[in-house]
Amino acid sequence: MCGIVAVIGSRQAAPLLLEGLKQLEYRGYDSSGLATIDTTSNQIPSRLICKRAKGKLLNLRNLVDTSGSPGRLGIGHTRWATHGRPDEKNAHPQIDSAGNIAVVQNGIIENHVLLRRSLEAEGVEFASETDTEVIPHLISKELKLLKQVGRKSSGAMLLEAVRRVSLKLNGAYAIAVIWNEAPDALVVARRKAPLLIGLGEGEFLCASDTPALAGFTRTILPMQDGEVALLTPLGIELYDQHGDRQKRSPSVLRDSEQIVNKRNFRHFMLKEIYEQPETASLWIERHLPEGLPSESPVALPFDASFYKGVEKIEILACGTSRHAAMVGAYLLEQFSGIPTSVFYASEFRYAAPPLSPHTLTIGVSQSGETADTLAALSMEAKRRDSLGDPDYASRQLGITNRPESSISRQVTNIIDIGAGIEVGVAATKTFLGQLLAFYGLAINFAAKRKSRSDEEIKKLIEEIRTVPKHLTLMLETHNELSEELSHQFSDTQDVIFLGRGINYPIALEGALKLKEVSYIHAEGYPAGEMKHGPIALLDHKVAVISIANQGIVFDKVLSNVQEAKAREARLIGVAPETIETEIFDSLMPLPVVSELISPLLSLIPMQLLSYHIAANRGLDIDQPRNLAKTVTVE
Ligand code: F6R
Repeated sequence: MCGIVAVIGSRQAAPLLLEGLKQLEYRGYDSSGLATIDTTSNQIPSRLICKRAKGKLLNLRNLVDTSGSPGRLGIGHTRWATHGRPDEKNAHPQIDSAGNIAVVQNGIIENHVLLRRSLEAEGVEFASETDTEVIPHLISKELKLLKQVGRKSSGAMLLEAVRRVSLKLNGAYAIAVIWNEAPDALVVARRKAPLLIGLGEGEFLCASDTPALAGFTRTILPMQDGEVALLTPLGIELYDQHGDRQKRSPSVLRDSEQIVNKRNFRHFMLKEIYEQPETASLWIERHLPEGLPSESPVALPFDASFYKGVEKIEILACGTSRHAAMVGAYLLEQFSGIPTSVFYASEFRYAAPPLSPHTLTIGVSQSGETADTLAALSMEAKRRDSLGDPDYASRQLGITNRPESSISRQVTNIIDIGAGIEVGVAATKTFLGQLLAFYGLAINFAAKRKSRSDEEIKKLIEEIRTVPKHLTLMLETHNELSEELSHQFSDTQDVIFLGRGINYPIALEGALKLKEVSYIHAEGYPAGEMKHGPIALLDHKVAVISIANQGIVFDKVLSNVQEAKAREARLIGVAPETIETEIFDSLMPLPVVSELISPLLSLIPMQLLSYHIAANRGLDIDQPRNLAKTVTVE
């Protein structure tokens, strides 16, 4: 999704902007641009310089290198097209008709059509198809009015103009604005899209996400919803949407929130797959220390009241996070005995089920910024509040990898999965982290409600403790195995993933991973559902990847696989290494573990096979086409 970087200080802005944008590349983009205010010629007013390029950031870098973009104040942007094709004219910054004001925006201005029409009726000519272009034109209008009154400094005028314009914009957005008549002023604003201010020495850098601040500063001030800020070389002035001054202390970033480095791996995705034993070890270290009381065997940041009286759970999430939620729902129902429903956050917003009392609402989002999930959570909070649900605030939980993100400001309770920054667009280690969070939650609920005996709980905990060791061993064998197998997929156009019970969501996740990074059409089904329709697709050209772990549905899955075999499909089994069957054409062996913890391991072949198939096809694995890491639009 779009990324914003803006800087004001004593150093040249363009190199800092380009470096910051590079760190935001992982969010996904198709064009980029920057604008600076050049004060070198002492010309009054100063000159606004704007450079934009389609495609990779390298194109913008080359443009800036050859044509120059001097100035100590600037804004930069990577664009992920929503309104208008990904080309130069639609790239940001967008500028006003006189070319004096430049704006970068992340998000969507939902009422842009109305705003555009009324500006056009006043004679404004638009140069792009973007929703963003209305903003510089509106700011220009406000500045003209403010100039007529004329008692403020140019920086204060720009601040006031942006504040007034932001009140006219509907949607979720973060913006950064510069004006050639205010060469010492950077104005930024946000509503429902992230924006952080980094405090350096004599300089400030604003960005959509923490990696852009790497090497610049660790001291940050996350902006809150509806705030507008004026940054000058002298300091920060922060205001709410009504223009009232806000005072807040900055916070300090952890290293893991900044470092994005591929080490010796070819791609971030592979590096992050390999980081999973560490993700699991850290999680166990933090949440499963020895000696916790039997009524609360997992260390989670809640007291007893959080668990008390919960009769139902609803989980809101998108994409991979939703698949983690489905495994979570299985555990919460089957292990802890609590009825649990999982919703696509994007659907829940417009078709929520009738409210029922004593419900815990969980939002799952690795980025903590997904617009659909945040909006669904907020809608549910309002619904419950309006019905006077007294304990609703304490009955909200967010599961995220970014505890400094918007979800943490929106819900009362947070589980930080602590997986460290994930750069690859395809979620891998954060998926494992989300799964572990659900295991922790399910165990504590089961312990409180006595839905499982102490022995059963102890056994599950002991099994979870073995996960890092199994993951390490599996990575060794499965990387090579997946690489070998991937060559059989050079002409494959359709792949079907099958799973049942707790591994059905892993089949869905396998299909999603493959689609995302290799662009091969893939579907996940509960294995028993094949015969009700999808079996019509099968022939020798289709590959079927079937997760068949020992447990209550083991024999059932094997019979379902036989049905695929009879249609000549190529069969790959993700099954126990001890399995005695000739049914599979290839086997990706799982260690012998209980069905309950098997999703924590069966995810490895899904991730590695997708990775190697995409690598063989020479694709842009870390930034697949059309995808964004943080989806801040509806
Ligand atoms: C898939 C993937 C996406 C995200 C989805 C939700 O690899 O990463 O499907 O899971 O966009 O994102 P978060 O978890 O940030 O809310």
